Amino acid sequence: MKYAYEYYKKSAEYIQERAGGEIGLGLVLGSSLGGISELIQDRIIIKYKEIPNFLMSTVDSHAGELLIGTLSGKKVVCMSGRFHYYEGYEFERLAVPMRVFKLLGVKKVILTNAAGGINTDYKPGDVMLISDHIKLTGASPVRGPNIPELGPRFFDVSNMYTRTLRELAKAEAEKQGIDLKEGVYFYATGPQFETPAEIRAMRILGGDAVGMSTVTEAITAAHCGMEVLGISLITNMAAGVLDQPVTTEEVDLEGRKAKDKLERLITSVVGAM
Ligand code: HPA
Repeated sequence: MKYAYEYYKKSAEYIQERAGGEIGLGLVLGSSLGGISELIQDRIIIKYKEIPNFLMSTVDSHAGELLIGTLSGKKVVCMSGRFHYYEGYEFERLAVPMRVFKLLGVKKVILTNAAGGINTDYKPGDVMLISDHIKLTGASPVRGPNIPELGPRFFDVSNMYTRTLRELAKAEAEKQGIDLKEGVYFYATGPQFETPAEIRAMRILGGDAVGMSTVTEAITAAHCGMEVLGISLITNMAAGVLDQPVTTEEVDLEGRKAKDKLERLITSVVGAM
């Protein structure tokens, strides 16, 4: 039963019983970006701990609840608070949320996160569209016996952060007068922030921003045929870029400051999706 199709189905059925109907769009809100969930109208809130077979948030800046409601006229399911490898979950457990989204009917998902800027042209407060990612550490969330009802054993990830959704996001950002960067997200397992030497290596390898989330969700979503849009808020410059330490306070502060900008971007992107 563990990690089998029925396992995910049990979570999805519980959510459907409480929220009803198919939901086409999924949203994941990263550290300090949870405020966006307030924009969801007529929302039903389900605590993660009430959902059978689901996971529980252990991070202070993450709310730990699922919201189902309407955003820009679309029915959405939104995770306010997500799960990370550094919390102690096995990679395979991190497949749960996107597989449950899939069983709820989700076809497109927006993954947001806070990230450190590796690219020295970036500054805190910038918003970066994820064009691709680099993950050189750890296993895959879809490791283990394949579940054919969800997707094939081997699958293509060359257009994971789909071009169509990126083009749509760029067009909406332009309408909103928001300057959108586009770059490669480098996955780090954390919980320690990176060393300056690691950041220099990541820059040489082609990373523009670094963070501890999103990638596990993007891989799982791609496996089950969902389209992914990834948005990073650059909350700080990565280690060693400036002569100062990386702090959680800085990450939270930039998250709060950029709230309005991100809300406008996400609302208009969802409306156009
Ligand atoms: N490194 C990793 N994750 C992060 C950072 C960072 O500098 N900033 C926000 N999340």
